[in-house]
Order: sequence, then structure tokens, then C-alpha cells
Amino acid sequence: MSGTVAKRYEELCRLLHHHNHLYYVLDRPEISDAQYDRLFRELVAIEKEQPELITADSPSQRVGAPPLEGFATVPHSQPMLSLQNALTLGEIKEFDASVKRSLKPSGAIDYFCELKLDGLAVELVYQKGRLTVGATRGDGVNGEKITENLRTIRQIPLALADEAPELVAVRGEVYMELADFRRLNEERENNGEAVFANPRNAAAGSLRQLDSAVTARRPLKIFCYGIGACTEKGFSSQSQMLEKLRRWGLRVNLEQSRIARGVDEVAAFYNEILALREELPFEIDGIVVKVERLDLQARLGVTSRAPRWARAWKFPPRQAETRVEEVRLQVGRTGAITPVAKLTPVRVSGVTVASASLHNWDEIARLDIRQGDHVIIERAGDVIPYVVRSLPEKRTGREAAIPVPAVCPVCGSPVARLEGEVIPRCQGLDCPARLRETLKHFASRNAMDIDGLGERYIDQLLRLGLVKSVADLYTLTKEDLFRFERMGDKLAENLLAAIAASKKRPLARFLHALGIRHVGVHLARVLSDRFGSAAALTKASREELTAIHEIGDQVADSVVRFFQSPHNLAILKQLEDAGVVPETGEKKGGTALAGKTFVFTGALSRFTRQEAEAMVTERGGRAAGSVSRKTDFVVAGEEAGSKYRKAVELGVPVLSEEDFIRLLGGQ
Ligand code: IVH
Repeated sequence: MSGTVAKRYEELCRLLHHHNHLYYVLDRPEISDAQYDRLFRELVAIEKEQPELITADSPSQRVGAPPLEGFATVPHSQPMLSLQNALTLGEIKEFDASVKRSLKPSGAIDYFCELKLDGLAVELVYQKGRLTVGATRGDGVNGEKITENLRTIRQIPLALADEAPELVAVRGEVYMELADFRRLNEERENNGEAVFANPRNAAAGSLRQLDSAVTARRPLKIFCYGIGACTEKGFSSQSQMLEKLRRWGLRVNLEQSRIARGVDEVAAFYNEILALREELPFEIDGIVVKVERLDLQARLGVTSRAPRWARAWKFPPRQAETRVEEVRLQVGRTGAITPVAKLTPVRVSGVTVASASLHNWDEIARLDIRQGDHVIIERAGDVIPYVVRSLPEKRTGREAAIPVPAVCPVCGSPVARLEGEVIPRCQGLDCPARLRETLKHFASRNAMDIDGLGERYIDQLLRLGLVKSVADLYTLTKEDLFRFERMGDKLAENLLAAIAASKKRPLARFLHALGIRHVGVHLARVLSDRFGSAAALTKASREELTAIHEIGDQVADSVVRFFQSPHNLAILKQLEDAGVVPETGEKKGGTALAGKTFVFTGALSRFTRQEAEAMVTERGGRAAGSVSRKTDFVVAGEEAGSKYRKAVELGVPVLSEEDFIRLLGGQ
């Protein structure tokens, strides 16, 4: 008997290490938090029964994963602990009872209740009021030093208000709001980049970047909730500590926190927040219950993993059981075929879910999903719900396997799966599904920016057979457009004018619009700067491409393959004949912006930051994410924050938005 337990124990250690690595190091978890918790609890239960099995590297003996190679490590002032979870009211009562057993109070205990944000824990060290070090939790003892990345978050003050202590290590959670997360994913999808599974991964992936300019472009936020080492002791409770943090200029969420007297008030808070959960702009996975008085916290102490004075009271996973009625195959711009489960509609915490992504066929095999299966689905802080597991015990025998398609479900062309890729792709260049996505991408804002040419008109163009490639857009006539449902004279004129206006877009936009795999906004700019024309790029060799700093084998191969295709070359020729002559930055050369580095901060009123940065690079300048001595100009919009202060500190010239426009105009 104990032999099998020991075996299971080993298996659990292995599994938990594996999932820890996926979660902490790769930002690519494969199981839900609830599934992870189940494994972890099973492990802890075995360890309780048979403590002799515990090894020093058991997943229960550590808080996180080792820091990534590539970042320097930094010891924390005090260990950054984790929290013990409670899943039920019973477990919270148990916690309260254990607190009372230790403290033997005469009445109820005061608990400070906070939201449990689902992001990434960080430590910010301020010395003499200045932010000197910022780090991730790492393994709890040593973190990854990500100071530069944290400095790009505008909600993090680089200097504290005047009465700041000699030294304070502030702890908080960096997160991404749901709306920002969706926008970021949309943009990534447009750029042919992998999307993030949920806001937490997006936040973690954005923070753990070796290039802080990337972090700077990500909409990250922070709430601070604690203090490690601190030379000031002018607070005696958790709530006073948060008030202090706020006074020093740090962002805390006092509005959605509360002191609860005893377990019943804790439970009331929990239920209130659970009801509010769907309305919050960010993802939370529970509440955190902390003993309010710091002297009592100190008396309770900590274990190696977590404090005895706090619990994370987790929300139930947003799961429901339903049935896979049908599996539909979606075809994307690159031909990628994605299986999507159409479900018997089911309500999951207030939202009706009727479909779920099945990701790919490896995932289908891993979860053993068949058409007709009963499944458990989960919604996390994500737009697309996913299947957690199938319920094979409910099978009737009529369930059908979900085969990898041999031909494209839309156009019937052969399907191929490239080496090392999990996704099969339609090889048909004229596939209507691909063409639809290609047109959408070509006309989109970051590409050729054809105002008014959205999904509705694209579908009509396809239905009427008016376009077979993006080049056909440029030969459309008013008569063609009059065949649309509900098309007036003015509308048709506007659409044709918008199409015509796109003929002169900058080369970088044009290259992005072509939809070459792995070439997003940024790399399109790099290629535009280096080659200066589409014609030159068509002749670029793999070696010339990989010689460029930011271009690796995968991108080089993709570019070469794109321009080897006779189909693509024919479209390029057609575009050229139609007068689509993208302009290069060089044409506007010799300008005030060429060779200069700009940093934008605060909100601009005339354009988005992305547009402003594009204007700089199109004119031969560089847009950077953070201010250094090498920065030539900082353009400060409304509510400019830390970058503005840094510019002033370093003596970098600061321009207003008006100054910037003048600089653009003066060419
Ligand atoms: S207190 C010793 N408060 O949850 C106390 N943690 O599961 C440790 N978290 O590592 C943390 N919101 O990343 C605390 N209001 C909050 C929190 C919070 C989110 C995260 C934090 C921590 C994890 C533990």
C-alpha cells in the first residue's frame, strides 16, 4: 500500500514541478488554478500522513520557481511568502479557530479583507525615498531583478512623497485590466503573434521581458498590499499600513477592502465581492483575509511557506458541465485551422457560454474530447472559455472522434502541418476564409488603414465575387459598389476615396499589411528601414535578413518563403500596376526627426501613442520606451508621470504635443 502512495507522491512532485515551470517560467500554464490546487492538496495530504517522504525540493517546500536565466537575481529583504488557500467557509472557520487557539482573545478577531488580484507579485525597494530595486517573487527568497521593467509602469512612483522612510520594501501585485488584455491580444493576433491565455499571463509575460521597451508598451497596473523590510514602524495594523503606503504615493485598493469583525463579517465580505466579481475591470480569484493587528500577526508567525495570520479564500472556479454538440473548424488568415466546440448553452457565473476553444488536436487528444461528449468548461479572466476535462463516464457510445481534417473545410484544398507546429493549415491560396481574414487584416488600422472597409463590406465583396485578392480592391468602381445592399452615392465615393488614399501608405505599413507570417508592426518597420522598398525586399536573401539584429531564422525563412511564392509576386505586381506605391521613411529624409530618439509619456490628444511612434519611425527616428541619457526628446501628454520626471532629472528636452506637431510640420 505505502509503495503505491510513494509512487503517487513521486508522480505528484513531478507533475507539480512541471506545471510550476509552465506557469512561472514559461508563462504558459496548461492546467487551471483549480486543477493545480487539487494536485497540490493531494501532495500536502500525503506529506501530512507520511512526513518521511518529504524531500527538500518537494513542491510544497518552495514558494515559486527559480528565476529566469537572463535576469540578475536579488535577495528579498524578507522572504516573499505565499498564502495558504481556503476553499470553503468551513476552512475559513478552521483558520479563525486556529488563530484563536494561538491568541486566546476574549472576543472576535478583526480581519482585514482585501481582493485577491490575479497578477504577478513584485517587491519595490525604496531607499531614501527613491526606487532602487524592483523584483519578482522568484523562489520567495531570491527574485528576478526587473527594476527597469517596473520603472516603465506609470502607477509606480520612482520617488516617494517627502516623509518616506530610509528604507522600505513594498509588495504588490502587477496586473492587466481585462479590456487592455483583450486589446493587446487583438493586436497580437493581427501581428501574427501568439495570444496570451489570460490577463495574468499577459502581465507576467510583459513584466519578464529582457527589453524594457517592450514592457513599456504594455498597459500594466499595480495595487500594493504589503511591506517587507521597513525602517519606519509608525503603523500598527494592516489598514494603517495601507494608508501609509497611499500617503507615500503608492497605489492601494482601500476602497474595496474592509475590516471584518469575526468570521461572519468575513463571509459577508466574501459574498459581496463574489457578486461583484463580474463587474470588476480586472480579474480576481478570491479574497485575502489577514489578521488586522500587526502585533497579533507577529505572535502568530509564519511557516516556511505562508504566514499563519492570513488565508486566501478562493472563489470557486467558474466551471459548468455541458455537452459538445458539434465541432466547427475555423480558418484564419494564415490558413490555421482551429477547432471550436459548439456547446449546449450553459450559464457560468452570469454569462451564457455556447462555444469553447479546443486550441488544437494535441489538446483534443490530451483531454480526450469527442463530439457529443459531456465536458466541464471553465471561464477564467479570458474572453474564450475552454474545456477543462471530458466526462468519459457519461458516454453513450455515439460520441465521435474529432479527426484532423485532410482538406480545408471551406475550400477543400489540402491541409498541411509544418514540422514542429501543432496547427494544421489550409494550403489553398484562394481559400475564401483565408481571403476574408487577409482582407480584414490588409484594411485594418495598423496596416493600410482603409477607413470604412470593415467586415460588412468585405463580406459583400466576397459574396459578389468582386475581389479575389487584396490587389482587386484598387480596381473597384462605383458601379461595383452599387451592387452592395444599401449603398449610396456618398458612401461609395467615401469608400473608394479611402481605398485610393491607402495607395501612399508608408512602406512599413504596407509590409505589415501583406501579412507575412511573424512580421508584425515592429518587424515591418525594421524591414522597411533596412530595404527601403518592397522590390528590394523581394530579392533579400536569408543571409541578408538574418544579418539584421532583430531578425532570426524563423522570420527570415518566412520572408523568403513569402516572396518566393509566384502567387504573392503576382499580387505585388498587380498592386504596383494599380498605383500602390508605398512611401519609405527615406523619402522624407534629412528631417528634424531622423536619427533622433523619442519617448512618449502621458496621454496625447491628437493621436494614439502607437501612431505617434509610427510617425517618428517613418521619418527615420526611433521611439523608445524608457528615458535615458541617450533620449533626444520626451513628448509629454496629459498626466505625464515618471518618464517626465526622469527627463527633467536627466536634462532631456521635453516637448508638448503642440511642439511635436510643429516639429513634424517643419519638414
Ligand atoms: S498578501 C504574506 N494580499 O496572492 C502575504 N497577496 O497566493 C502574501 N495576491 O503571492 C501576500 N492579492 O501574488 C496578498 N491582497 C493581496 C493579494 C495577494 C493577490 C497574490 C500574491 C501572493 C499570492 C498568494
